[in-house]
Amino acid sequence: MANYDVIVIGSGPGGYVSAIRCAQLGLKTAIVEGRETLGGTCLNVGCIPSKALLHASHMLHEAEHNFAAMGLKGKAPSVDWKQMISYKEDTIGQNTKGVEFLMKKNKIDWLKGWGSIPAAGKVQVGDEVHETKNIIIASGSEVSSLPGVEIDEKVVVSSTGALELGKVPNKMVVIGAGVIGLELGSVYARLGAEVEVVEFADTVTPGMDKEVQRTFKRLLEKQGLSFTMGAAVSGVEVKNKKAKVTYKLRKDDSEATVDADVVLVATGRRPYTDGLGLEALGVEMSERGQIKTDAHYKTNVAGIYAIGDCIDGPMLAHKAEDEGMACAEGLAGQKPHVNYDVIPGVIYTHPEVANVGKTEEQLKEEGRAYKVGKFSFMGNGRAKANFAGDGFVKILADKNTDRILGAHIIGPAAGDLIHEICVAMEFGAAAEDLARTCHAHPTYSEAVREAALACGDGPIHS
Ligand code: NAI
Repeated sequence: MANYDVIVIGSGPGGYVSAIRCAQLGLKTAIVEGRETLGGTCLNVGCIPSKALLHASHMLHEAEHNFAAMGLKGKAPSVDWKQMISYKEDTIGQNTKGVEFLMKKNKIDWLKGWGSIPAAGKVQVGDEVHETKNIIIASGSEVSSLPGVEIDEKVVVSSTGALELGKVPNKMVVIGAGVIGLELGSVYARLGAEVEVVEFADTVTPGMDKEVQRTFKRLLEKQGLSFTMGAAVSGVEVKNKKAKVTYKLRKDDSEATVDADVVLVATGRRPYTDGLGLEALGVEMSERGQIKTDAHYKTNVAGIYAIGDCIDGPMLAHKAEDEGMACAEGLAGQKPHVNYDVIPGVIYTHPEVANVGKTEEQLKEEGRAYKVGKFSFMGNGRAKANFAGDGFVKILADKNTDRILGAHIIGPAAGDLIHEICVAMEFGAAAEDLARTCHAHPTYSEAVREAALACGDGPIHS
């Protein structure tokens, strides 16, 4: 007799959301988590704490750069690092306690400890083995470093160490101009560090819309970050609490070094499945260490499912949440579906960057006939009033049917604005549908409407 209908392993956004949905649908559910607090990487050492530091450092930037022009005079605030870290910790605490409350509210048992699967239908936590009809693995991902680079979380840090440095460093070298590198790099640049980003590719955030990449890099440079592009880091040496980063320039194979007080390694993450016992169970894995699943998140072993960062697809909290809900609904006999064509991506720098659907480069490669509607935030009254005129909205639509195929935004509140386009895409909308929808004035969202208008007879304010 099984104790549980479902045991979810891992309490990140994928795991805890899945557990809640299971419980809502009447399944007796437990969640396994070995950390002291629930919420996984995202709440404890990822999305949430980084947003607190991004917010605080953005406020400082506003005070230093825009307050005087708005008639707000006086000394700009200085950084009390200890207090900023404590504000970040409070933010984490409120969120992780919130998840704990949700577990109790939904009568989900928290099995404290690291879980393993001795056999299908069994989950071991500590000395106890729990019986369950189904297991959902939501074990997430971990930092993947580079050969020749050892992370000590003091001088050479991952995102985890970068969120709890003892002080703001004088010089920080960031390896990798991806999402983590640019979000945390811009935090420390705004707090006064000299930040140099060393990136293997020729563009920041490889894979994103090219125009956005160019504008993004230019705006970050304006904020004081410097970039060494086309440079493959081959090693980091630490001596007397200082680091020397060695890289090779791809264009001529020449080698160079750069010194730093702190090096942030932001070169990607890999699935985390250590200690689960998957090999002994015969669970099929991909070459990249991901758990292989079918479209219903089933592994090749009956009764074992997997979702989120430890399976294929973008490593994003919201993708994991959607998979977690769909997996639960499938177990409860429903017929859920995750639309992988409409998963937004957001970078929470200032300005924010957001995208959904195809890039122009992808459409060209696919030989699709498309049109581009673009609108600059310089033409948006609200953005101008708020010193937020940098950036644009770009909508890509099918040339013949006008159906929206993708959108790319760099600008104020981009991470929120993208969602009206996501909803439109879910409904198979044409750009004209957005263009004919009344948007309140004055809001940033008018820039989205103007970009949609630009796919047709033209925007009004440019
Ligand atoms: P990433 O994959 O976004 O970027 C890694 C960068 O490192 C790439 O630009 C790559 O070309 C570069 N790189 C790799 N090897 C290098 C070398 N030897 N020398 C120089 N550059 C090198 O990875 P990142 O930023 O570490 O993020 C990891 C994951 O976490 C991503 O999947 C991301 O989506 C997710 N994440 C998402 C966030 C968000 O949605 N806002 C925030 C933070 C992380």
